[in-house]
Amino acid sequence: MKDASPQALVEIETDGDIGLIRLSKPPVNALGVALRGAVHAAHQTLQDDPAIRAIVLYGAGRFFSAGADIKDFGKADVEPTLPQVLKALNNSPKPVVAALHGVAFGGALELALACHLRVGVPGLRVGLPEVKLGLLPGAGGAQRLPRLTGLSRAIDIICSGRDVAAEEALEAGILDLIIDAPARDAGIDAARQVLSGTLTALQTDSLQVAEDDASVTAARQRLAAKRPALAAPLKALEAVCAATLPIDEGLARERGLFMGLMAGEERAGLVHAFFAERATGRIPEQDVPPRDIAQLAVIGGGTMGVGIATTLLIGGYEVRLIEAQSDRVGAAQEAVTANLAGALKRGKLSEAGHAAASTRFTCSDALDTVAEADLVIEAIFEDMGAKTALFGRLDAICKPGAILATNTSYLDVNEIAAATARPEDVIGLHFFSPAHIMRLVEVVVADATAPEVVTTAFALARKLGKVPVRAGVCDGFIGNRILTQYRRAADYLLLDGADFAEIDAALEAFGFAMGPFAVSDLAGLDIAKATRDRKAATRPASERYSRVADLICDQGWYGRKTGQGYYLYDNGKATGPNPGAMEIVKAERQALGLRPQRFTPDDIVARCLTAMIAEATRVIEEGIALRPVDIDAVELFGYGFPRHRGGPMLQADLIGPETLIQRIETYAKDDPQFWQVPALLRRMQRDKRSFAEMNSGPKTTEKGQAS
Ligand code: CAA
Repeated sequence: MKDASPQALVEIETDGDIGLIRLSKPPVNALGVALRGAVHAAHQTLQDDPAIRAIVLYGAGRFFSAGADIKDFGKADVEPTLPQVLKALNNSPKPVVAALHGVAFGGALELALACHLRVGVPGLRVGLPEVKLGLLPGAGGAQRLPRLTGLSRAIDIICSGRDVAAEEALEAGILDLIIDAPARDAGIDAARQVLSGTLTALQTDSLQVAEDDASVTAARQRLAAKRPALAAPLKALEAVCAATLPIDEGLARERGLFMGLMAGEERAGLVHAFFAERATGRIPEQDVPPRDIAQLAVIGGGTMGVGIATTLLIGGYEVRLIEAQSDRVGAAQEAVTANLAGALKRGKLSEAGHAAASTRFTCSDALDTVAEADLVIEAIFEDMGAKTALFGRLDAICKPGAILATNTSYLDVNEIAAATARPEDVIGLHFFSPAHIMRLVEVVVADATAPEVVTTAFALARKLGKVPVRAGVCDGFIGNRILTQYRRAADYLLLDGADFAEIDAALEAFGFAMGPFAVSDLAGLDIAKATRDRKAATRPASERYSRVADLICDQGWYGRKTGQGYYLYDNGKATGPNPGAMEIVKAERQALGLRPQRFTPDDIVARCLTAMIAEATRVIEEGIALRPVDIDAVELFGYGFPRHRGGPMLQADLIGPETLIQRIETYAKDDPQFWQVPALLRRMQRDKRSFAEMNSGPKTTEKGQAS
């Protein structure tokens, strides 16, 4: 995002006695210090012009404005601050109209709320999404919104951070009117109505807010129950409650709460996650135009294939799903149909979109029908022999220029590519289950993969609303490789004395939706055992191996689907730890002569997180991931890493290399094979470097950095 020159940030023009201020800072008119300073000055100029009787603010480009410049967060405040600019607008003796189009989020809506009248154009979305960034509206939004909507609606909008469509905004009193015209014309129209007396312009700050104890109490209970780990929603509630005070007291209270959150780790984590989602698109191949793709094929009608076919259909593509076993074709077809119905129900598809998706879908056992597909995604079982055989056949069937992708979770994509005479067209597209819900796609670039195949994969994933992350070839790529070490750390903690319920509880308190043992039960212990069995022959003899999961499987306890695993289940709901599994753990500790140690929740989190960070550091060292921020994106969008923690690499920077090295060296006294200090971590300690610094450079911009 290039900075426009200060002169170009706003344009002032006049239409008779109406002065117009156009915000013009591509791509989203973010209200950083330069733009808000320019707005302030432009407003002053028009105030001082005796020929001007009303002022209109509107935005150039796709949006009115996306709000404050998120890149400024964490930096020292520079005057004029947004609250100062908005106070001046609200106190303006001439009526000020905000004419809104596209989006007006955060500070942009706060700006509009400080004006004396708001006109929206159809399609506008407004909102105060600050809680999603670990903040609250700190430029008067929590004081001025309730003055227009009442306390209850303001609590709903501010504490959820949700978008509000123009129609709801009108009904709620946020907008005064909707005019179907370009924002500039709508603004002039509204200003004329104010000047002629048909519309009343109001100074928001002069309004009063009625107390509403019932709504406040209900919201406090709801937020504490729903998001106990997050500070921002409850602080935002406190800020909204201050709206019943005189305006200046409320504004001061709000600003104090805002500054407290601005300094917090929750804000750092959520802002990092915002930029991580966008940073992954900066890849070495980014300037190479992608190939056109319209018709896609998915091979394999199991859970993954069905999920991938669904997401492609929702994305608007024509999809052929091929299930080799003819007796399973019907089930695959029904599963996709059910997924599409679910998407319709959740509002992911409109009625028309649902009907269209259904007509674009076919399912059969005839592989040769994929001949005209532009991109084929293989999603069969994880067996190299089966995959290479299939790719050999696809090579013979598919048209020249078709991209052949594999959804393998850990197999060697170079070996799969070598089974074809077109390795440049072969790539890994690793979706996560359920593929129509999970946002991560690891784009695995093999040695011969052509650059435009990479950009095509990225373009496809973005069109599907996914977060594509470029990965190199290795066993498990980025995510599963780190997951393996995280799981091992948890298994060793279990052997060494922490109970699985304690481990799960500690990681859930850290913010994971489920701890590792609850996840294993959900995924099926038999599935993980099959993978371990497959890898047994290549496992180093020196590697510490926990047999606990195998012994639980030996009982026929495969987790949730069998009613028993680490936990007991009743109708799919966990009812508590499985005493039988606890006995197995204890017996195994005894058999190994291990005296159980005590681990606090902090110890548990420290070990699991350090294991992740150490492996992630090696993933960076080896060039498997482009940057630390890509690893954070993988963990956030594919593995349930708590968003407000920003990802393991942001956590690593918060902990610091020195402490991480100390931890690894301490843990290594018991298990030197597992706990090894990555060389990069030592260099970072020596050179006083952070992972955030590695996010900058030619592959990304400073936006990928932790703020
Ligand atoms: N500040 C800085 N950069 C922003 C930004 C913001 N508020 N909003 C978007 N951008 C950047 C993005 O990082 C992206 O940059 P790159 O192209 O360099 O990666 C670019 O603008 C385009 O954004 P998207 O890729 O997201 O484009 P989109 O069309 O898909 O979505 C959007 C546009 C709906 C505005 C979306 O970007 C969005 O929701 N932005 C966040 C809005 C937000 O949270 N605003 C509140 C900020 S907090 C605040 O305003 C109150 C305060 O005082 C603290």
